[in-house]
Amino acid sequence: MDRREFVEACALGSGALGAVLVSGAWAASAVSRDRGRVLLVNDLGEPLKASSLRPQVNYVFHYPFEATPVFLLDLGKAAQPVALQTRDRKTYQWPGGVGPRRSLVAFSAICAHKLVYPTKELSFISFRKGAAINPQTPSKGNDLIHCCADHSQYDPARGAQVLGGPAEQPLCAVLLEHDAKADTLTATGTLGGELFDDFFQKYEMKISLEVGPRARQQVAGRSTVRELEQFCRNPVRC
Ligand code: FES
Repeated sequence: MDRREFVEACALGSGALGAVLVSGAWAASAVSRDRGRVLLVNDLGEPLKASSLRPQVNYVFHYPFEATPVFLLDLGKAAQPVALQTRDRKTYQWPGGVGPRRSLVAFSAICAHKLVYPTKELSFISFRKGAAINPQTPSKGNDLIHCCADHSQYDPARGAQVLGGPAEQPLCAVLLEHDAKADTLTATGTLGGELFDDFFQKYEMKISLEVGPRARQQVAGRSTVRELEQFCRNPVRC
């Protein structure tokens, strides 16, 4: 960060500066992990324009590993920084959304309860615009990420904080950078309770069949963003 950027960050106020501290080079005291810079691209391999994302639509890309899916969302509203806690009581400051409206967020799509995740065949977990549609599982609010396996509900506007169900911690956040000039998005790391080791342990055979020998490789350079409805044949809603 050069002097001009520092002054601009100060002008944004303490909340925004907090976000810079967490997501930028001064994040040593936070639990963010540098997972490599990966440019998000469309299915033609071109840099994805953030402005091309439709608000409140589920998009999926893979990061930090070839087999680990991530939800990318334009919430259509600003997401402010929020203090959160992992299940082993480590606190962290989620930096909020990025982009011109601070509405762009990304979270690991691996449910923090029993690690349900979207595959090409089936997805029990996704963002839902509005409230839950199943009266037996009342929604804890609008515009949440729901896991239909056991009905955990996460608020993507608050760092995927758990609002209902058995999950014990927020979805792991994926840190994004938005290049305002090019309108591109780059994933840079993760923040919060990672479950990747558990995920690979639980689904070792399944993942090797789905993804092949690259499953545990870190994504290098680029990751393709697709709408969940295109990525997955059967997105389940509950
Ligand atoms: S696996 Fe998602 S709520 Fe149980």
